[in-house]
Amino acid sequence: MAYRLLEINAPFVLHYLVRWRTQAAFLPPLSSTPFASHVTLHIGVERSRLDAELVGCIARVYASARAYTCGPVPIMDRVVAVGVQRLPVSAIHLERFFAETVDAPEDALQTFELKVASTGKSISVKQGTSIVAALAEIGVKVDTSCAEEVCGTCIVDVVSGKPDHRDNFLSKAERASDAVICCCVSRLKSSVVVLDL
Ligand code: FES
Repeated sequence: MAYRLLEINAPFVLHYLVRWRTQAAFLPPLSSTPFASHVTLHIGVERSRLDAELVGCIARVYASARAYTCGPVPIMDRVVAVGVQRLPVSAIHLERFFAETVDAPEDALQTFELKVASTGKSISVKQGTSIVAALAEIGVKVDTSCAEEVCGTCIVDVVSGKPDHRDNFLSKAERASDAVICCCVSRLKSSVVVLDL
């Protein structure tokens, strides 16, 4: 992400919290050009000082900014708790080291139909087959990265239909809108969904 932000000349700050300097991954590149001016290292922050440190991190963030956090769950929980003091919760994104299990709701369907808006092609998706795999069968490639519901690479816009969100990436507002779906893990609550592909 940092490489991409530099490439498009977007302003960003990377706050890197680590217990010991010797544990810090990527320290050489992050400490040198072109990253150094964007990176703030927070070394040895005790748990009792964590919230205060995070308040300092968000103090100068634009109200229109987005925050992306990755790390142990207790730390990310504090990032969200502190971050919402300045940003809407929908602007705070989490990437978990491990995916949380998302139980299927009672109205989730075992099989459903996908339609591709641009071509009108459709395919029936059976239990045990992911939306990504089903689309590949009809020649439609959806990019994936984690394939475990946490990165958001596989997000596709929904033209119509009701997703059964099983990911750990979308915000509550994005889930409620049903305007997007993470195709690597999610299923459907409606028998047909049309995807903007
Ligand atoms: S590929 Fe990462 S959430 Fe789907």
